[in-house]
Amino acid sequence: MPKSPPAIHDHETIKFPQGFLWGAATSAHQVEGNNIHSDWWKWEQENQPPSHHSGIACNQYNLYEQDFDLAKSLNHNAHRLSIEWARIEPKEGLFDQKEIEHYQKVLKALKNRGFTVMLTLWHFTLPLWVADIGGWENSKTTFYFERFVKKIVPYISDYVDFWVTLNEPGVYIYETYIERVWPHAKKSWIGQAKTFLNLTSAHKKVYKYLHSTFPAGKPVGIANNILSFESYHKHSISEQVAVSLNDFLVNHLFYAFTRKTHDFLGINYYFHVRFKNNSLIPTPSGLVPQTHDVSDLGWEIYPEGIFEVLTDLADDIPIYITECGIASTNDDRRNRFLISYLQEVARAIKAGVNVRGFFYWSLIDNFEWRLGFNPRFGLVEVDYQNQKRHIRPSALVYTDIIQHNGIPHSLLRFIGHTVQAEEVLEKRQKEIAKEITK
Ligand code: BGC
Repeated sequence: MPKSPPAIHDHETIKFPQGFLWGAATSAHQVEGNNIHSDWWKWEQENQPPSHHSGIACNQYNLYEQDFDLAKSLNHNAHRLSIEWARIEPKEGLFDQKEIEHYQKVLKALKNRGFTVMLTLWHFTLPLWVADIGGWENSKTTFYFERFVKKIVPYISDYVDFWVTLNEPGVYIYETYIERVWPHAKKSWIGQAKTFLNLTSAHKKVYKYLHSTFPAGKPVGIANNILSFESYHKHSISEQVAVSLNDFLVNHLFYAFTRKTHDFLGINYYFHVRFKNNSLIPTPSGLVPQTHDVSDLGWEIYPEGIFEVLTDLADDIPIYITECGIASTNDDRRNRFLISYLQEVARAIKAGVNVRGFFYWSLIDNFEWRLGFNPRFGLVEVDYQNQKRHIRPSALVYTDIIQHNGIPHSLLRFIGHTVQAEEVLEKRQKEIAKEITK
């Protein structure tokens, strides 16, 4: 008789695979400060109220060592960040050696602390001179981007383990051409299509270059914003058509245009959308069931969604969750978020999806684009009056999970957020706080 596998008791820790990457993510413009040669800097001055200017942001340009020490003390073993093209090439063809050396130091600082480093080469911002020639609408931008990448990579490649060529091309297009609230805002179907095609071509070129330079292979991919879509009424065919169509356009189109140029799938997961027949065409219902938590931005907390997108995208290449986080000043909510989302990630792994890492968005509070500094995504709070960092209790829940490489049973009880569970959690948080300050 074949031996039955040992029973798993439900009071045991939910384990993640060995070697799982645990970290947090940031992007240059959102944390560094004084990104004065970028299109975003100019856009803020001209279109956003003073409270929504990035200014010195979190001053991470100067405080990076301190921030990396924090991530280390929280037991993270990986970190995702981006470099800023506008600093490195502030004028066409003029590369600033001092800024190149700065990024060498930043990345070295991560390596010295033992982090696995995931580096994003483009995270929404462009040098002003690139924006002036039409940004991604102009096919020359792909040439300039590739030239920039070829310039910088030899200086920094020793300190990078994973390359993310582009962050969320779809969100960029949506905010620029549909919502029209980001730099370069305009209504143009042609501009939108050109931007999409130029971004796909930039990714393919850089993928090819990185592979020809490192044949042994450092994995290359993109970080893509993936949404979980659902129909409001199960019986409605039109709602289901809307789901399939949006799923294809938002979640799969970029991959369809860039086949065989991804060594991993980088998934940024934030949104769950229900399509409802309000008029002739089903539209996102915007209604969050009252039983569901929401973030301070009104975004629905829907842990099942991350399971759904992971199983939907599962492929023969590894998946990294390159971003997932909640804007909340209610840290209990962030606790529940972390535990319940990671539980769903574990469930997807159990179902056979090859997930190899999780990067919480974000390590520290930061500049949330057109929303300024109000949304608080950080595991670590930033006091913008004095740039002091304060570790939030939820950061310690994350540390607890990292230390177990899994979710201890005591934490699972917290999802129901009973008073008793909160006490257990508080006690555990205090213990971890003591451990990390030792
Ligand atoms: C972006 C980040 C942003 C985060 C939260 C992602 O779409 O990559 O830059 O801060 O979402 O909105």
